[in-house]
Order: sequence, then structure tokens, then C-alpha cells
Amino acid sequence: MNAPPASTDTVFRHRHLLGIQGLSPAEITLLLDRSETYVDQNRQANKKKSLLKGRTIINIFFESSTRTRTSFELAGKRLGADVINMSVSSSAIKKGETLLDTAITLNAMHPDVLVVRHPESGAVKLLAEKVNGSVINAGDGRHEHPTQALLDAVTIRRRKGHLQGLLVAICGDVLHSRVARSNIYLLQTMGARVRVVGPPTLLPDPVARLGVEVFHDMEQGLKGCDIVMMLRLQTERMQGSFVPSIREYFHFFGLTYEKLAAAKDDALIMHPGPMNRGVEIDSEVADDFGRSVIQEQVEMGVAVRMACLDILTRNMATTEAE
Ligand code: CP
Repeated sequence: MNAPPASTDTVFRHRHLLGIQGLSPAEITLLLDRSETYVDQNRQANKKKSLLKGRTIINIFFESSTRTRTSFELAGKRLGADVINMSVSSSAIKKGETLLDTAITLNAMHPDVLVVRHPESGAVKLLAEKVNGSVINAGDGRHEHPTQALLDAVTIRRRKGHLQGLLVAICGDVLHSRVARSNIYLLQTMGARVRVVGPPTLLPDPVARLGVEVFHDMEQGLKGCDIVMMLRLQTERMQGSFVPSIREYFHFFGLTYEKLAAAKDDALIMHPGPMNRGVEIDSEVADDFGRSVIQEQVEMGVAVRMACLDILTRNMATTEAE
């Protein structure tokens, strides 16, 4: 089945962007198409527009971030919004204020968009229920990281021309990965075939319920793939040991040229970052700019976040006018 194109009358029906699950193929296509327009804008000397002039965006990150936080800040500023980065370490959260009280407090200042990252799955949705503006999930626990999946999709689509029919292997620590979950939902919705590859200890149980093919051997899992998406070993979410040793993990599941040879000759190498070189990916492979699109993923991140802010605030403007 081919994913329908987003026609000019495609409507994004959601006030918030909390996940990819539940978005229609047309809504995803609308977000991807809008992102494309911002890729061009971001490559020009003058990157600034006034689309969001007068709008306020607050970024609240309860977990560390380089890519997502910076790109949301850039995205908001390039669209002309006022952007506040709330520092959790110097906020009243450190004095014991709850997540919901923080949400209610910020809501009283009339922000138009809250961009939130939180270590607990579901926390961003809870917060969204307490505010009047839009909320964008910048990653919640192991649950979802929708803008990462969107930027991955834009990167793939620009290189391969389409998502439909592609064979994608998502490899490594799928168990702890919100990136994997959002990508599985998006790729399947858009007609791609998804494999997960990793040791049984690092795959959710039962992983096949997600509708993916499951492999415990890299060469078998990568065979014939168009896209090889590596995941970081998320030791900060692990209680106890999930792999015998880093050395053994790299031996069996680290991406090397030898293992990559099983994929198609033109297979793309992806990684959401931050990377653990020599753990899930060999440095030489990561830096092979003929095949690795890791830096392109970062570039697309800004465009995708601009598209998300654009589309959610346009919805807001329609509601305000009614
Ligand atoms: N991919 C990603 O979410 O990276 P950051 O943790 O740096 O935001």
C-alpha cells in the first residue's frame, strides 16, 4: 500500500505532538513535506522568519540533551518566537515542586508551546493535560521521541526518495529506546518493513508484538537492508547488567564494515546520537561520509522542529480566530 500524499487540505488534527503512534500517513507526510521547506531556509544566509513573532516557547528538559534542545531553540528563534530555556537544575523543581505544579505555574505565563523531555514514560502527556498551549514531546522515558523519528524519516526520504517498501534494521538496545519505538511506528505507518536486531536481553518482551521481524545475529538481520539504524547502549536506564561486557557487545553487535557487508551496497548508516564509538558502532563506519548520514540527521532535526512548531501554532491560530 502506498502512503497517500499530504494534499493541500490535509489537516493536522492534534493540539500536541506527544508521539508518532496515532498519526495518519497523511499527517506524517504533511510534517515531512513542511520540513523540506525549512531545509532550504536553513541553508540560506538569512535563516530568520517572523511566522512565530509574538509567540512564546518554553523548553523544559528534565534529562540532558545536546541535539534536541539546541535544535528546538534554533527552530523557535529562526521562526521569530521568543524562546526560553528553563534550567531544571536551578528551578523550583529542586525545592520539591511537582511536575504538575511546574506545569500549572508555567501555564499561568501563557506560553504557546512547551517542549518537554522527561525520564519517565507518560510524564509529558500528563503535563499536556494541564496546560492551554501545545506540548511537544522531546523524549519521554522509553516511550516515544517523535521528532527524532520525523527527522530520521526526512533524512531517509531525501536519500532514497521514499519510505514505502524500504527494509530498515534497527539495531542494539531497543529495550530502552524511545527512538526505536517512534521509528517503528513511523516506518510501519509509511509502508516500510522493520527488523530489530539485538541480544534477547536488549529487546522488549514480546518484541514481535510491535509487528517487526526479530534477529539476534547482525549479519542475518542486516541482510538485504536499505537502512542500518544503530542505537546507543543506554546504560543510564539499566539497572544491573544487560550485556556480559562492552568488548563482547561490540564484537557481536557493534557495526563494523564486516557486518555492514550483509546490507545492500547503498545501505545508509544512521544513529540518533549521542554515539558510543567502539561500543555500538566502529568509528571508521560512523565517519564514512559516503554512507553515514549521521550529520545529515542532525541538520534535518532543525528543519523538522521548525515544521512541528509551524504546524501546531497554525492550528492554534485557527482556533483563536474562531
Ligand atoms: N538524539 C537525541 O535525542 O539526542 P540528544 O539527547 O542530544 O537530544
